[in-house]
Amino acid sequence: MYITDSFGKVYIDLMNATKGIVLAGGKGSRLWPMTTVCSKQLLPVYDKPAIYYPISTLMLTGIRQILIISSPEGIQTINRILGDGSRFGIELSYAEQPAPNGLPEAFIIGEKFIGQDPVIMILGDNFFHGHAITEMLRIEPHEHAKIFLYKVNDPSRYGVAELNEKGRVMSVVEKPTHSHSNLAITGFYYFDASVAERAKRLSSSGRGELEITDLISQYIAEELLSAAVFGRGYVWFDIGTPQALNDASNYVEVIQSRQGISIGSLEEVAWRMGFITDEMLRRIAASMPRCSYKSYLESII
Ligand code: G1P
Repeated sequence: MYITDSFGKVYIDLMNATKGIVLAGGKGSRLWPMTTVCSKQLLPVYDKPAIYYPISTLMLTGIRQILIISSPEGIQTINRILGDGSRFGIELSYAEQPAPNGLPEAFIIGEKFIGQDPVIMILGDNFFHGHAITEMLRIEPHEHAKIFLYKVNDPSRYGVAELNEKGRVMSVVEKPTHSHSNLAITGFYYFDASVAERAKRLSSSGRGELEITDLISQYIAEELLSAAVFGRGYVWFDIGTPQALNDASNYVEVIQSRQGISIGSLEEVAWRMGFITDEMLRRIAASMPRCSYKSYLESII
């Protein structure tokens, strides 16, 4: 499906996923004491709460049904901020993850939401940006599971994928001490409808969590995993450390100030995607206090 916005830009829908999960879990221990104030996904990345960015990424791929999963405390605040999603022309629902038991638990918690459909999961602390990002994140109809890899200097902070010479993923390892690969697994995952059943078959790792790499390994073993590697022109941050949070903030500030655009504005994305009308955007902007975010929205209509 192709959508043309008022600047003639074309967005390409993800071919066969209509549902998304945003997992805003974890203790945020590496960001302490900031995370004594609020959960890490609500910390500001320059001028917006961090969670705006991954939600906007899902919306740009055309996804409008989104389940947000967070801790019992986190979920209430996120719900208060975002509501049922109608002001962004999307459907938001909420579920609790009582304890940080690992990423795959999201698929068990979200089993009903997923139903018989494939699903995209994006992590609430992940930030993606780049020209034609939605084409990069595209899923083909024949794909069962897909991960997106990004070259990093410090692979031991992430899940890491090892590829063979044909570019197929041979193995994935969570936070390896030594790795031959510098390809980190980003927090944007596509899985078919079997994912909840597969997640239930996992057992806890030495860290006491279900590991996303163990789930991915099931698909590798059945030769059902696809992977795409982000090229040089893309930006990916996992804002799990103070430095990464600051880097992401600086990045947003530099691009926004230089180009006079906004990155990760849910209202703008909703409007450009045709999820809300000009009139709705005008009303939403009118309800905001005087601030640069409001002026920006008024300026784009
Ligand atoms: C999680 C995943 C890891 C992935 C990372 C991406 O790590 O376990 O495989 O590379 O997200 O952001 P965490 O940031 O929870 O330590």
